[in-house]
Amino acid sequence: MNRKYLAGIAAASILTLSLTACGGSRGGGDAAAEGGSNEGAKIGVAMPTQQSERWIADGENVKSQLEDLGYEVDLQYANDDIPTQVSQIENMINGGVKALVIASIDGTTLTSVLDQAESQDIPVIAYDRLINESGTVDYYTTFDNEEVGVQQATSLLTGLGVLDAEGKETGAAGPFDVELFAGSPDDNNATFFWNGAMKTLQPYLDSGVLRVPSGQTDFEQAAILRWLPDTAQDRMEDLLTVGGGERLEGVLSPYDGLSIGIISALTSGGYATDDLPVVTGQDAEVGSVKSIIAGEQYSTIFKDVRELGKQAVTMVDALMKGEEPEVNDTETYDNGVKVVPSYLLESEIVTADNYEASLVETGYYTEDDLK
Ligand code: BGC
Repeated sequence: MNRKYLAGIAAASILTLSLTACGGSRGGGDAAAEGGSNEGAKIGVAMPTQQSERWIADGENVKSQLEDLGYEVDLQYANDDIPTQVSQIENMINGGVKALVIASIDGTTLTSVLDQAESQDIPVIAYDRLINESGTVDYYTTFDNEEVGVQQATSLLTGLGVLDAEGKETGAAGPFDVELFAGSPDDNNATFFWNGAMKTLQPYLDSGVLRVPSGQTDFEQAAILRWLPDTAQDRMEDLLTVGGGERLEGVLSPYDGLSIGIISALTSGGYATDDLPVVTGQDAEVGSVKSIIAGEQYSTIFKDVRELGKQAVTMVDALMKGEEPEVNDTETYDNGVKVVPSYLLESEIVTADNYEASLVETGYYTEDDLK
């Protein structure tokens, strides 16, 4: 057993070393490798959609920070349409970009366009969402996505009074009726959020403190394709009809846009705005922060996309200078072909109690933005 274990470790370290080497060698692009300069190089930035504020902020942050370093930027949004994103990336490659930063719509649909990038030695950074089934992804920067799910579930439990503000069990026995939502099944992050949330909620489901009236506790049942608010609203409306008229106490929602749809379904289903179930979220979007301040949505998860942008830009800049970008995780994000070296950032639970300190005092929003 020991020998097997040691062999495993040796294999793992060889993998890590070769990963690092791989990442480094494709790094600088032709110019840097030949001692030339990538100064002022054009960088392609592909974002999924402008339907959600966070992606607009992501795109703007990455663009302006790259421009501050003297790069030219081709920033494109794909309206959540996969063929559009593929052709935008093709155009970027044909337009001479020296690096690609990509937040994918569907993490598995970019393989052939990325082969083109590889043939031209264009390094690829997966932004926030992992790109799957491709050996061409050099680096990944994101938040600790499983921890985001843990935080969502923790805030649900806190809102229900099962946990106190310090995260200690209060002894509340429930049973509390809750319904569960997950993100888009083609977004690699959605499973991480779900797994983090379910590992946190499972003990309470097992002990009967939490009950799911619909019985829909599988990811496939809870998932909302393309993260569409209307789809979440429709599903919530359906779920309200299966609860036997019992009051719902909580809803696990993985994204603020879905939370807005869920809250609409709840209010049209007879819940008063000042007596809603505990509804979670993610992204600290303005509409949801306002809803939190108004006492409707209970929580969101704040992921500072300024920091994510900075990280992606630092990676691009290192690659353009022929240097190796810093990573802090070489184990978690296996895309089916390789474990992609990653830099993970931390997220934070935000409720009405701490939004000022987290969002306003840090300059993420002004008081006026939230009025
Ligand atoms: C992001 C989340 C976002 C979701 C919907 C995920 O990939 O990590 O921050 O809420 O997409 O846009």
